[in-house]
Amino acid sequence: MRVLGIETTCDETAAAVVEANAGQDGRILSNVVLSQIAEHAPYGGVVPEIAARAHVEALDRIIKKAMHDAGKLDFADLDGIAAAAGPGLIGGVMIGLTMGKAIALASSKPLVAVNHLEAHALTARLTDKASFPYLLLLMSGGHTQLVAVLGVGDYVRIGTTLDDAIGEAFDKVGKLLGLPFPGGPQIELNSRDGDPARFDFPRPMHGRETPDFSLSGLKTAVRQVVQAHGHLEQADIADVCASFQAAILDIVVDRTRAGLREFRKRFGLPQALVVAGGVAANSVIRQALLRLASETGLRLALPPPALCTDNGAMIAWAGIERLRLGMTDGLDFAPRPRWPLDRQMEKIAGAKA
Ligand code: KG4
Ligand code: ZN
Repeated sequence: MRVLGIETTCDETAAAVVEANAGQDGRILSNVVLSQIAEHAPYGGVVPEIAARAHVEALDRIIKKAMHDAGKLDFADLDGIAAAAGPGLIGGVMIGLTMGKAIALASSKPLVAVNHLEAHALTARLTDKASFPYLLLLMSGGHTQLVAVLGVGDYVRIGTTLDDAIGEAFDKVGKLLGLPFPGGPQIELNSRDGDPARFDFPRPMHGRETPDFSLSGLKTAVRQVVQAHGHLEQADIADVCASFQAAILDIVVDRTRAGLREFRKRFGLPQALVVAGGVAANSVIRQALLRLASETGLRLALPPPALCTDNGAMIAWAGIERLRLGMTDGLDFAPRPRWPLDRQMEKIAGAKA
């Protein structure tokens, strides 16, 4: 089974072809990602209108390259077209989904409208052959969630952030420090020469039973330090970055422990701890999660950084997982800028719509 995946929900224009054999092992045949970071950097964040225009300009070229890199494939060589249909910025979602529908229609192939969060959740089954059920720790620019992944299409959110997402906190702190956008990778880089013990930043929710996150108090504490200092030398910036990253580490580990406890209580023993989202590219956080896994005796599935950040391969793989179960979508599928993963939440969102 061979599927084309299209991803346009945020600031990456991406397409990929993934193949699965009868034994259900997946193989990435091509994975083309065009980052729009340079276009958004002057504004210090993703500008929806700029993102939409950039997707329109690049998408057909990116898809052509993905098909070519996969072995000069034709659409006729595919078994289905998967396009991210949300959640995300509506302009981008419409462009990718419409393109997916057009290719599906023209080539008489089934369409799979993929939930972007589901694609992050299932990536570890492609990269690490993770088996259900597992605990997913999703940390991206827009989402911070702990999700019990019980099966394809069967997700229970057991924790979430009450305010900012972790990636968002990285990006906001980066902005406060005058670092280029996005702040996450910049903070990791600057932390290398910094003293993680110089500033004692708060670890909100620490020790709480419920596996939720809160980041805004930490962000405010960083702002106060920055404002109190006036001008910051490079050494100060490094210390703020290292101290902030140390706080994030503690938060991630403590909240994931709470998530594991909750998972065991409700669903029994998880098969693995799976990590996804752009923040999972952070090598210090990766190390901390490795320590947590070995301490708890749990298998850790940590996809390579390029598959933690947004990409087309994860959409194609989610398409394969759904297609195998006969879960296809009609060409009238409407884009969903908001699309919660949780089965309960989805019912609530559906009732409201
Ligand atoms: O999953 P992603 O590519 O896009 C979505 O938000 O869906 O995640 C992007 C986020 C940004 O907030 C970025 O700053 C953060 O991931 N990020 C990092 C690192 N690389 C990317 N955060 C911390 N350390 C990194 N190395
Ligand atoms: Zn994402």
